[in-house]
Amino acid sequence: MKRQQWGTRAGFILAAVGSAVGLGNIWRFPYVAYENGGGAFLIPYLFALLTAGIPILIMEFTIGHKYRGSAPLSFFRMSGKKAEWLGWWGVFVAFVISTYYAVIIAWAMRYTVFSFNQAWGEDTEGFLFGTFLQLGETPGETGGIVWGVFLPLILVWVITLGILLKGVKKGIEIANRIFIPTLVILFLIIVIRAVTLPGAAAGLNAFFEPNFEQIMNPSVWVAAYGHIFFSLSIAFAIMITYSSYLPKKSDITNNAFITGFANSGFELLAGIGVFAALGFMATQLSVPVDEVATAGVGLAFVVFPQIINQFPGFNGFFGALFFLSLTLAGLTSLMSITETYVAGVTEKFGVSRNKAVIIGGGLAATISILFATQGGLYFLDLADYYINQFGVAAVGLVEVIMVAWILRKTNALQSHANLTSDIHLGGWWKICLGFITPVVLGYMMFGLLKLNILQEFDTDTGNYEGYANAFTLYGGVAVAAAALIAGVIFSIGKWNTKHANFNENE
Ligand code: ALA
Repeated sequence: MKRQQWGTRAGFILAAVGSAVGLGNIWRFPYVAYENGGGAFLIPYLFALLTAGIPILIMEFTIGHKYRGSAPLSFFRMSGKKAEWLGWWGVFVAFVISTYYAVIIAWAMRYTVFSFNQAWGEDTEGFLFGTFLQLGETPGETGGIVWGVFLPLILVWVITLGILLKGVKKGIEIANRIFIPTLVILFLIIVIRAVTLPGAAAGLNAFFEPNFEQIMNPSVWVAAYGHIFFSLSIAFAIMITYSSYLPKKSDITNNAFITGFANSGFELLAGIGVFAALGFMATQLSVPVDEVATAGVGLAFVVFPQIINQFPGFNGFFGALFFLSLTLAGLTSLMSITETYVAGVTEKFGVSRNKAVIIGGGLAATISILFATQGGLYFLDLADYYINQFGVAAVGLVEVIMVAWILRKTNALQSHANLTSDIHLGGWWKICLGFITPVVLGYMMFGLLKLNILQEFDTDTGNYEGYANAFTLYGGVAVAAAALIAGVIFSIGKWNTKHANFNENE
């Protein structure tokens, strides 16, 4: 059977932007930025974007386009078994992410409905943790299923898997052609409204004002790299998979720049929108901005409803717009995250695409129920933190070291990208991949590991104050390690014969 392909260049770019722009931009970025020094976070963020994010995006687009396979198949075709495991590692990191990612989309769906009459009332924090999530007392215990999360979660999976069943061109491409322009319009309306609210400037000051003390902290740097990778959908198999569906004559480098800048533009816009709205709320309550921002995964779901409550008019409309944007952005990303393992399983085991969607997606959907229980939020918070620091950021680091130093493929990839691209890749690209990223990210990861080991003996673990240490460290690290171990195990068997042979020029 012929490999599936995107129908048009715009279709591919919209799908890639749809993958990149997601919960990472709207839900995750403001709270990660807030927890890691606010404006100070922008410095490691921009550094990671320009020296690692965009160069790795170009690299992954080139790998997918050149080897025309899922991430594990592309790495296998590049250098055989010694590289295949890396592709699977990314796929399993994506698998873990998809299990909790779907749950946040489910929250957003519910909150779209809650928006109409501001069902969250005055105490939005109590509503989120108590009424809505029914959060249990002890981290690590699941408790019962929370039906208010479980039911929209089923809907999220039905929509996502339904689109994937339709295939790349008729499913993913068409969905993105509809969802992404809609999202851009909705989001522009919200941001314009946010920055014109009274007090917006105070929020923007808080956002952009750097706190230089934080800049020396390795965990801030790893968080910045982890976030850039998460937000650009790189280092967890996605962009390799998506670019493997490109026709032969496709621009690579230009497409990567468009995708990268569209994503960061959207993210900064989201940050501006969220902080402008925080400034508005702080002004309404006559308190400093840092008093209205809550840390953690709840930021969007606690603070935004409060802001909506304070809105001067059309409260329900703006609330629904915000949470609908979150839902749409999330769905287009979840499709791409799930596609990584659908493609990998199809090719490795020679099963039909439909079977891979049902089995792979069905398994992820089943595991995601864990996050729809009363203890779900604790598990989600942990999975998100550890899979990013020791999953996504680690895959990114190992990927650049492998490609640049062990497999020594940067020259070949550079020539391949330059064959079809308008923008020619120069030496800067190789310097970023071969030197800057491994040195800076490697140094920071090492520092962070040291910090984590030290913290095991400390009851006050920064981010996870109040969580039992064993639960945090062992639970979180176990999930991140499991992705690597599963990756190695999956790389053991042979490829389905259809995919074993590959002629680059065919
Ligand atoms: N890139 C996706 C996001 O930002 C995963 O949410």
